Amino acid sequence: MRSPFLPYSVPYIGDEEIAEVIDSLRNGFLTAGPKVKIFEAQFADFIGTKHAIAVNSCTAALELALAALDIGPGDEVIVPTLTFCATANVVEHRRATTVLVDVGEDLQIDAEAVERAISHKTRAVIPVHYGGQACDLKSVLQLANRKGVAVIQDAAHSVGTEYDQRKIGADGLVTAFSFYPSKNMTTGEGGMLTTSDNRLAERLRVLSLHGIRRDSASKEIGPWLYEIYEPGYKAKMTDLQASIGIHQLRRLEGFISRRREIAQIYSDAFKNLPELVLPVDLPGRPHAYHLYTVRIVAERCRLQRDTFIQQLKKAGIGSSVHFIPLHRHPYYRDKYEYPATSFPVAEAFFPKILSLPLYPKMSDGDVLRVISAVRDIICAAQNARHCSSVQRRTS
Ligand SMILES: Cc1ncc(COP(=O)(O)O)c(C=O)c1O
Repeated sequence: MRSPFLPYSVPYIGDEEIAEVIDSLRNGFLTAGPKVKIFEAQFADFIGTKHAIAVNSCTAALELALAALDIGPGDEVIVPTLTFCATANVVEHRRATTVLVDVGEDLQIDAEAVERAISHKTRAVIPVHYGGQACDLKSVLQLANRKGVAVIQDAAHSVGTEYDQRKIGADGLVTAFSFYPSKNMTTGEGGMLTTSDNRLAERLRVLSLHGIRRDSASKEIGPWLYEIYEPGYKAKMTDLQASIGIHQLRRLEGFISRRREIAQIYSDAFKNLPELVLPVDLPGRPHAYHLYTVRIVAERCRLQRDTFIQQLKKAGIGSSVHFIPLHRHPYYRDKYEYPATSFPVAEAFFPKILSLPLYPKMSDGDVLRVISAVRDIICAAQNARHCSSVQRRTS
């Protein structure tokens, strides 16, 4: 009997999350309430930062960060081209200018490219910690510091990721996380901002709820008394989402260790295959494996990435591509008209990258299914003699 389709990503939701959501439905706090406060406090504690502000997505978190730093028309914001559209779309929403830069061989933002892109109009850089691994954060922070540019970290993939033995979000001015279902922990939809700057935290909180400010008088008179000094956003997380988040946060270290275990099984199985370039831990930058992104060496396995994906699908296995570089999307391409040579690494790597299924809910049997499908696809693309050698090298 054929095995059921193995999706590229499936969230793990336990009985505790379900019971906590039911509790919120029964107690009547359907919007931001006491559980959001608990989740924020526990998250700040976990990351090792002073403030955590829960919002309804990482996209909202990034836009709030730009707004809180007063970034708008005439300002430039540097973004890596190999990211999800949200990282740059928020810059466009603020009517600022998106300046895309290339990534390095580790698929992370290239600090030297950032330096070259900084102009007198640059107000911020948004480094992405791609795939669950930290970018070269020290270089980016030092450079930004030297040039007087803010750093808004996009840690959508990297909740729980470490850099120099500290959690991403503990250092730097402000960091945005995602709790979308495919991420290392989920709240359905949801996001979080972390900062240790008291004034910025206060501004982010105000902006995340319409711009409502309350002073001490409103404490005595009543919650109806508030004032608006600037038009904010409606971006708060709900208690229903926080109910899930509180329990996901408790499971996070276990999730990451299972992700690392699966990644190790993949890497052991594929290590002798010259047809694939595998992700690796880098010094001071252990991988939390939100993604297990391989590069297909097409010259060696005579297979294009798109065919590889189709063949995995035929074998009942989902996979994905992270990402179509932003400079290739019509909006960015047509608006900014980048010279053809602007992104040599992203251009060279994009046709080769492919993310294999990786999530804590996968059984060892699921992992072995992926390994044997990958091996069979590479085998089939080679001649029979080579095929037995592929099998030997992955067994
Ligand atoms: C790098 C990156 N940044 C931002 C986002 C946006 O996250 P959210 O869906 O929580 O808004 C994503 C979502 O996949 C992402 O991959």
